[in-house]
Amino acid sequence: MSYNLNIREVTYALSGALDFVGIDDTLHGKRVAYMAAQLARELSWPQNLIDDIIFIGMLHDCGVSSTDVHTHLVSELDWNNSQVHSLRGEILLKNTSVYSSYAIFVKYHHTHWNELPSELSDLEKNISNLIYLVDRVDAINAQMQISGVKSIVLIQDTIKKYTDSMFSPTLVEAFLSASMKDSFWFYLEPDALSEYFTEWIKQGVDDEFSFEIVKEIALMFAAVVDAKSEFTSEHSLGVSVLARYLAECFDLPKNICEKVELAGLLHDLGKLKVDDLILDKPSKLNADERLKMNRHGFDSYIILRHIEGFKEIARLASLHHETLDAKGYPYNLPASQIPLEGRIITVADIFQALIQDRPYRHGLSMDEAYDIVYLMCQEGKLDFNVVAKLKEHLALCYEYAIGSKLHYNF
Ligand SMILES: [Fe+2]
Ligand SMILES: [Fe+2]
Ligand SMILES: [Fe+2]
Repeated sequence: MSYNLNIREVTYALSGALDFVGIDDTLHGKRVAYMAAQLARELSWPQNLIDDIIFIGMLHDCGVSSTDVHTHLVSELDWNNSQVHSLRGEILLKNTSVYSSYAIFVKYHHTHWNELPSELSDLEKNISNLIYLVDRVDAINAQMQISGVKSIVLIQDTIKKYTDSMFSPTLVEAFLSASMKDSFWFYLEPDALSEYFTEWIKQGVDDEFSFEIVKEIALMFAAVVDAKSEFTSEHSLGVSVLARYLAECFDLPKNICEKVELAGLLHDLGKLKVDDLILDKPSKLNADERLKMNRHGFDSYIILRHIEGFKEIARLASLHHETLDAKGYPYNLPASQIPLEGRIITVADIFQALIQDRPYRHGLSMDEAYDIVYLMCQEGKLDFNVVAKLKEHLALCYEYAIGSKLHYNF
């Protein structure tokens, strides 16, 4: 099946998952994209290049999954470990046909102007450094204890101080001139930023993308989610492969099986908003921590529902912690409102999680995991027919879920 998608809309929505890593401040990528576009406009760069820069701005921190890394990046002007996420981002983008040409800029988006490798073209140097400069503007702005004119002057002075060392003199000039306008700063506010991007998305067009191309993008974002914790490595991948296999066991139409696979890859996007300390806590979560943890299916929905053409995928992703006894979350839905595709993803999710190590226990064996799934089925939580398919092909399902058949190639 092919998908009719406005890639601007897709990227804007999914980059919301990357921005989730800021927990309470979830617009970093958007602000960087907006500011970078304004500087490029100041330099009279062509519109098609400005559009690419907006994409790069939204995606530049795709190598960050951990809330701890994010905190370092926004609270230190020049953090020693910043190259790790730049290199990771480069690898992730290289593996998607749609974004691969952006990889080089992300690789160098924390490299000082006077340290950029000489083999880079002028364009590569300028765009990488442009993202670096506005990224640092956003970081300095985030740390500001003051506001208004004083804070603007302080930001401008700090950037000026690093002319020709961290930042290109031409880009510093462009920043000083763009940031003279009050509107430059007003647009960094959530409502104005959303207005800016709504207009930009409207100017995009729908293109036809094959399932394989869409899957590459979903794999990239699944890898960002799975990298959040050593305990969840390849979790989304395992869930998607197993869920697709179970959907095929029910002879569901190919387009539905593909949707199940994509929903499996994207079901935990909302986990990027969960603090590392909660996700990796070795003891029982308290009630507040549990609430923060349990909202991730809802947050996955909030991201995905923005994509026209992804409504069903958004719905399926949001259902993965619902159970047939109406005691699941976040909606407490009754069985009558949970479709077979949703029930399949839930079983795949539970089975995959059981066989993986968690901070509070070791991964269970195939039979131990199945026994728990079967018990939940007897308790009226899981679909009997889905669990029966799992049992019928248990060894193969285990291999799919544990990832011995498929790995990320990044
Ligand atoms: Fe970064
Ligand atoms: Fe950043
Ligand atoms: Fe989940």
